[in-house]
Amino acid sequence: MNDKKLNLDKRESYIKSLSNNIIESAVDIVKIEPTVEQINEIREEVTERLQYESSSLLNEAVTKLHPTSLSEMMPEEREERSFERFGKNFRYQHMLMFVSVITLIVTGMPLKFPEFDISKFIVIDLLGGLHNSTLIHRIGAVGLIIVGIWHLIYSVGSKVGRRDFFLMIPNLKDASDFMCRMRYYIGKEKNGPKFGRFSFIEKFDYWAVYWGMVIMIGSGAIMWFKELFPKYFYDIGREMHSDEGLLATLSIIIWHFYNVHFNPEVFPMSWTWWHGQLTETEMKHHHPLEYEEIIKKESLEIIKQAEKINEEENG
Ligand code: HEM
Repeated sequence: MNDKKLNLDKRESYIKSLSNNIIESAVDIVKIEPTVEQINEIREEVTERLQYESSSLLNEAVTKLHPTSLSEMMPEEREERSFERFGKNFRYQHMLMFVSVITLIVTGMPLKFPEFDISKFIVIDLLGGLHNSTLIHRIGAVGLIIVGIWHLIYSVGSKVGRRDFFLMIPNLKDASDFMCRMRYYIGKEKNGPKFGRFSFIEKFDYWAVYWGMVIMIGSGAIMWFKELFPKYFYDIGREMHSDEGLLATLSIIIWHFYNVHFNPEVFPMSWTWWHGQLTETEMKHHHPLEYEEIIKKESLEIIKQAEKINEEENG
């Protein structure tokens, strides 16, 4: 353990001296006298990038030195490896959720806005009348209830689900990331915030859906089984359902669709919902802190394996 720490310390100090060399060379080339703040700022950036790339390169170098022994641990494609962002279980939950929610929106909105031509078209021409339309709304509702229960079991019962649930809880870093992003938008910050597995944008998206689901299922069930409740319960439930339904629809179209479809970085669509993968470039760009963590963990694992192999080879 101490040897490993020594190895990493050695690498850190080597990176620091390399970054000093780079800056000294840059100063030599431009032949101007930079301020201490300028130097510190550049040094910080250079050191960070060197640390980043050196971990990746270390993985690669060790694999090349031990091509057979380590090949199973290392990703096949060194050019552009991919990282699993969402496993099968989570992707199936998302698929059932979006099919249910789209069904619920298409069959719910015409009830809220019956005077619109498009509402008449959907209910009468497309679905064959109010009876069918409300029946389909209830089928969509069952889909959403299944997703709600499924997600709850997944978040409590599976290791990945539990990890992601805790990572989704908002913290102080989200508040400072938000401020940093705002300052970046108005040009007061040179770089935007660096995110881990979930950014504050993704957390907002997740909790909006979570909260929306509780309200929509609760109020929908009151309307569905209205004979079990006093009349004022139905009135409150319908008001909640109607308004939250519109809010949920708008938040999906404006917030969620912007992030996963219309944002120029992913337009016309991010396919992560389908294959669950992110490329290395996407990981570095969108989740640099998570990327760094994975690479560091792998480096340590590889050093451990390489040492074991060396020991075995040297007797
Ligand atoms: C994203 C989810 C949902 C959306 C956007 C949505 C939207 C709507 C809207 C806009 C209405 C019309 C309200 C009005 O008359 O002003 C409605 C009615 C209704 N919704 Fe939903 N809803 C959703 C989920 C649910 C769920 C989960 C349930 C059941 C648990 C449900 C059950 C009902 C019922 C019973 C009605 C009354 C009309 C009918 O009998 O079909 N809805 N919904």
